[in-house]
Amino acid sequence: MTNLHSFFITTFGCQMNVYDSNLIASMLEGAGLAQAANAEEADIILINTCSVRGGAEDRAYARIAGMRQYKKKKKHLVIVVVGCMAQNHKEHIFDELEHVNYVIGPDNYNRLTDVLLGDEYSGKHSLTEQGGHNNYTGQAAKLDNTISVNIAIMRGCNKKCAYCIVPSVRGKEESRSPEDIYKEIQGAVNQGIPEVVLLGQTVNSYNYHGHRFAALLRDINNIRGLKRIRFTSPHPKHCNDELIQVMTDCSNVCNHLHLPVQSGSNAILKKMRRLYTREEYITFIQNLRASIPRLGLTTDIITGFVGESQKDFEDTLSLVQEVRFDSAFMFSYSPREGTPAYSEKETLSEIEKGARLRQLITLQNTISAEKVREMIGMQETILLEGPSRQNKEELIGKTSCFKKVVVPGSKNLNPGELIKVKLVDVKGNTLIGNSIIASDN
Ligand code: 5AD
Ligand code: SF4
Repeated sequence: MTNLHSFFITTFGCQMNVYDSNLIASMLEGAGLAQAANAEEADIILINTCSVRGGAEDRAYARIAGMRQYKKKKKHLVIVVVGCMAQNHKEHIFDELEHVNYVIGPDNYNRLTDVLLGDEYSGKHSLTEQGGHNNYTGQAAKLDNTISVNIAIMRGCNKKCAYCIVPSVRGKEESRSPEDIYKEIQGAVNQGIPEVVLLGQTVNSYNYHGHRFAALLRDINNIRGLKRIRFTSPHPKHCNDELIQVMTDCSNVCNHLHLPVQSGSNAILKKMRRLYTREEYITFIQNLRASIPRLGLTTDIITGFVGESQKDFEDTLSLVQEVRFDSAFMFSYSPREGTPAYSEKETLSEIEKGARLRQLITLQNTISAEKVREMIGMQETILLEGPSRQNKEELIGKTSCFKKVVVPGSKNLNPGELIKVKLVDVKGNTLIGNSIIASDN
């Protein structure tokens, strides 16, 4: 298939999908293809999809349907659906989207170049066999920016949360070897990348033949030239004193935890099969904050899960008030076929679910704004990312606790540097800082 020279990837979903798209880009470039700047120019279009909520799938279907026009204009165009929805819907995707050529699930990306460039797979194919995370090829993902690189350290999920499609589409947990992880990080650091975000569906259950998450973090903390380490998303069940100790000890590990709580009601947490209680969650956060006073804490919350009573919902509101998250991703429960909760009849209408979600968002928005304001007057170190979108004369950066800060630009300040700033004001939820000194050179 010599008329295939370039590819374009569009990505839905979480950071793992962003990472996988970069991994695919690196594989395809390795096979001699060039990454196109837009879909119109490409010979191959890949759509990396998400299945976590119904809305994510609907958006992917709509986007792919819209690609019929490209295929009319360019007969040799190859359209490939990858990611979680590819795994979830398999060859059924061809029923509605007849212009799609291939459907390839996350465990089969190692076969992508053969599928696209070999002779074996002419016609339509779906490759969705599961088992063995074949993405651990030792290949590094393509860098998509100069500040922060995502790196998968584990894949899959062994939990059985009743609402969640991830265990079925992403398979069993498998940790990647520390050597491969260090190699990929070192490669990024050698190119001047200051920050790494370690990824895993339950990142803190990392366990490579007894080498666990805390030990891995300590080792990564020693990589010279790496300035900041973040990770997402941990599971509360695997949060312990060792994690607190390692976050306290390791100066490059950021003071930020994104710890999905999902609900403040013990009855709902149990129904969700989350494996912890409200009290256990709160106690862990109290202990962590005792060691790291300036911790940034963010979370995920689902409202309107099956059986959620008004009292259960109020327990979520009271947890949000008690814990005071810096920010939260908040979702209305979306039943997913193939999950344990799917067979249970929903107890709330879409209108009731929507009303609860809005009430929760209003509460959290107030707290988020207060938490940002509380930082005025403090001194913080920020990692400069680049010019602010609103005003090119200003630079934007983030604190260790994951707050956005803008500072006046100056020729002494460069993206990728850590600088000390005094936080003087806030606009929207972005802090305004005055730079004090460049602290890493
Ligand atoms: N409905 C709504 N939200 C969900 N999430 C996962 N599954 C569902 C679902 N079926 C949310 C959880 C998770 C985040 C990635 O998406 O809050 O932490
Ligand atoms: Fe990521 Fe889960 Fe969505 Fe897959 S289903 S893209 S793992 S959030």
